[in-house]
Amino acid sequence: MDSVVDAFSGGANVAYHFKRKGMKVIANDLLRFPYHLARAVIENSHEKLTEEDVEGILAPNPPACRAADTMPGYGRKLGRGAGRDAGTFIVDHFYGYYTKPVLHWLDQVWANIQKLPGYKKDLALAALGNTVKAKSAFGQFSRSKMNRKADLEAVASLEQSQLSNPPLSKFIESFKRSVRQLNNLVFDNGKECKAFNLDAAEAVRRYGADVLYLDPPYVTDEITDFRRTSAALTLMLHKPAGESGVKPL
Ligand SMILES: C[S@@+](CC[C@H](N)C(=O)[O-])C[C@H]1O[C@@H](n2cnc3c(N)ncnc32)[C@H](O)[C@@H]1O
Repeated sequence: MDSVVDAFSGGANVAYHFKRKGMKVIANDLLRFPYHLARAVIENSHEKLTEEDVEGILAPNPPACRAADTMPGYGRKLGRGAGRDAGTFIVDHFYGYYTKPVLHWLDQVWANIQKLPGYKKDLALAALGNTVKAKSAFGQFSRSKMNRKADLEAVASLEQSQLSNPPLSKFIESFKRSVRQLNNLVFDNGKECKAFNLDAAEAVRRYGADVLYLDPPYVTDEITDFRRTSAALTLMLHKPAGESGVKPL
């Protein structure tokens, strides 16, 4: 057996295992974060982020800062009607997930990441995804807009609390650590591994292999809709272009 399709690759753990076994791996996931992750550590076999790349990613990005600082209602509006400047998408749409300095930082980092070429961009987006997941304000990304609002009203004083909202320095630390970890995972197994962002059925139809590995989302009492639980992270990593694609959570 030389090749495998992992049609629901998620955290890429199983796909990576197969890559280490020397197989040609096709990793596929419908969501953007798993897709960037699979491009970063499954398809990519050589590219790594250098210290200069990380410095560039973390560099201040004045246009995004100015736009956020001068935007009316900054930090209060929850999407519809808030500024559509590309530099303030996360500030506009993710109030309640993190403190304002962190939202602001996320917009800057995201904008800087867009300048990176090829797999460097995937590595950086995967590191950013790991960071926001690990540091999500309420420990998960499944909160609906209504619930988030209710919780914020109830615990408004927690907005700056280190318990629910770690300081910006922790995000930066976490991002750098994630870059190091992802860099360490990059290797060449001598096969042309690939990552795709398709529905599993389509991936299976298009790409044949000796082994088909299927690990679909788990259904539990609490969470039955994986799209909803991942919606915020997906939006954050793949800001929709223009008004039409933006669906407030
Ligand atoms: C249980 S996780 C897979 C975990 C993975 N085996 C690992 O090693 O981390 C299920 C994955 O299926 C993805 N998924 C859900 N529906 C899908 C679909 N229709 N097509 C492709 N991927 C899908 C989800 O985004 C999620 O990442």
